[in-house]
Amino acid sequence: MAYQEISATVLNEIRAILPERLIVTPSADLEPYCHDQTEDLRFAPELVVLPETVEQVAALLKLCHAQCIPVTPRGAGTGLSGGSLAVHGGLMISMERMNRIISIDTDNLQAYVEPGVITGVLQQAVAEKGLLYPIDPASKGSCQIGGNIAHGSGGPRVVKYGTIREYVLNLQVVLPSGDVIWTGANTIKYASGYNLTQLFIGSEGTLGIVTGAVLKLVPRPKQTMLMLASFPTNEAACRTVSAIFQAGQTPSALEFMERRAVEWVSQYEGITVDMPPDAQAILLIEVDGDRTDELFLQCEQINAVLDAHGCLDTLLADTASHQETLWNMRRRIGPSVKSNSVYKEEDTVVPRARLPELIAGIKAIGATYGFESVCYGHAGDGNLHVNIIKGAMNDHDWHHRLKDGIREIFTLAVSLGGTLSGEHGIGWVQREYMLIKYNELQLSLMRGIKQVFDPHGIMNPGKIYQ
Ligand code: LAC
Ligand code: ZN
Repeated sequence: MAYQEISATVLNEIRAILPERLIVTPSADLEPYCHDQTEDLRFAPELVVLPETVEQVAALLKLCHAQCIPVTPRGAGTGLSGGSLAVHGGLMISMERMNRIISIDTDNLQAYVEPGVITGVLQQAVAEKGLLYPIDPASKGSCQIGGNIAHGSGGPRVVKYGTIREYVLNLQVVLPSGDVIWTGANTIKYASGYNLTQLFIGSEGTLGIVTGAVLKLVPRPKQTMLMLASFPTNEAACRTVSAIFQAGQTPSALEFMERRAVEWVSQYEGITVDMPPDAQAILLIEVDGDRTDELFLQCEQINAVLDAHGCLDTLLADTASHQETLWNMRRRIGPSVKSNSVYKEEDTVVPRARLPELIAGIKAIGATYGFESVCYGHAGDGNLHVNIIKGAMNDHDWHHRLKDGIREIFTLAVSLGGTLSGEHGIGWVQREYMLIKYNELQLSLMRGIKQVFDPHGIMNPGKIYQ
């Protein structure tokens, strides 16, 4: 069906659903809703609405479904694949005002939240009850639970605790028809037919809109220790990653940064860390637990692995403030590159033992195509963020030839047993690469699922599929 614009009649119907204060018209300020954190992409929705209730979301979707108006669901707009861009105009439904933590159930270790809750706010609220919600994206200070669910988010602690997939127990979802369903049960186990909860996680707003989530919590470890280990090469650092697990250790975070990433944060954010002059890469290794002696023992055992793999130097951060400085440095890599260069961010993931081949291959592809890359990420998960800097590349190569280079990066990741994205999603910018990972049969199965939920194709059109 052909998409329709929001006519005066439809606008009146929207006004009957929502009070005026929850409607952002082009005459007001639509600008914040025209972009996310993906490159410099900009698409304007025709109208933005900020519903406060499930009933409002249901009435809006029912209307858009009937009128064939494209709908772009939106969280905080911190995404890196263009998932919340209104590429077909239409109605943007921002979930920012549905931001209540409805309950924290300390009997069952669960939280029931609305999708607009900021991730860091939930972390803090459960921490006050001695609990941990370990999904910890770098944008945790502003990103929202709904967006995290839409993208299958992770962050540094996935390596021990798993992605958001392991923490979403049940979802309240509004379907394009306006029907409201719960996808599963508030249980740890679920062997009761197809798992619709998991289907919605990572579906990038293409099937419906999450209006409530029941999340699993875990007991909060009392202590953490953080080590910074320097290596002479990227490959040496990456080889050490799988060796740490082979030695029987499971850190609560295992992050990789190449020297340029650390330099970028130092140059633009003034956050510096000590690195030996001959170090080309660092690993940030965190362990958590309740007992100091056990954490020291774990650090010692990891240190033995580091020594055996050519580590140049290690530094132990055992105070909260030192640890926070190092984590802040790590979290600021993406923003410092984004704010100070024309760049593209790719999000590759491979089985972790293939990481040395991935990073070596990416650097070789960069040499062929003439781009510089800044690589960093969640090495313990085999998840490498690749920031491609325009630098001296001419505009023609940047807009045309680079696509072939990116295609080679994804082809490499897939050939190593990996895939296109570990946590940033496919969204708008990666969809042209889907055929590298999936054949037509696999894609038609996905499209078939989409068709069942969203027969008019109104939900976040232009995302995931070409
Ligand atoms: C990070 C974001 C970019 O890990 O995923 O910093
Ligand atoms: Zn990340």
